[in-house]
Amino acid sequence: MIKRRSFITYFSIGWLTSCFPVVLAACAPSKSSTQVTTTNPPGTGDPSAAKPITQKTADGFTVVGSVTQLEKAGYLQTKEVAVARDPANPKQLFAVNPKCTHQGCDIKWVAEEKKYECPCHDSDFAADGKVLKGPATKPLTTYSAKIVGNQVLVKV
Ligand code: FES
Repeated sequence: MIKRRSFITYFSIGWLTSCFPVVLAACAPSKSSTQVTTTNPPGTGDPSAAKPITQKTADGFTVVGSVTQLEKAGYLQTKEVAVARDPANPKQLFAVNPKCTHQGCDIKWVAEEKKYECPCHDSDFAADGKVLKGPATKPLTTYSAKIVGNQVLVKV
C-alpha cells in the first residue's frame, strides 16, 4: 500500500513534470514580437527599402533618377514626372507631367520616335510637352530639370 506521504510526493513530481513544457514555452521569446521589431517591410530584404525613393534638395528640386538610368532607358518616369532629353539638343532636359491632358491617362515615351504617346486615345506629345496629335489640345505641364553630378533633378 502506498503511504499518503509517498502519494503526495509522486503526485507533485508528476504535476511539475507535466507543467514544465508549458512553463518553458511561456518563458521563451515570442517569435511574432521578434519579427515585428527586427524584420524589414514585407517583400524586401533591404532596410533602406522603407525609405522614400526620392530625395528633395535644399533648392526644391527632387532627385528622380541617375544620368546612368536616363542614358540606359532613354527617359526617366515616376508617377509625378517624366524626363527626356531634347531631341534637338541632347544637353537639354525636358521634364513634364506624365498625365495626358485629354483625360489623364499615363503617357509613355517612345524612344524611336522621340515623343510621348498616350495609350488611351492616341494623343502624341513632344519631349517638351507640346501637343503633336490630338484629341488632347493642351500641352503637358512642364517642370524645370537639371543634372547635378550623376543625378537628374526636377522641380515639381
Ligand atoms: Fe490621352 Fe485621351 S487620355 S488621349
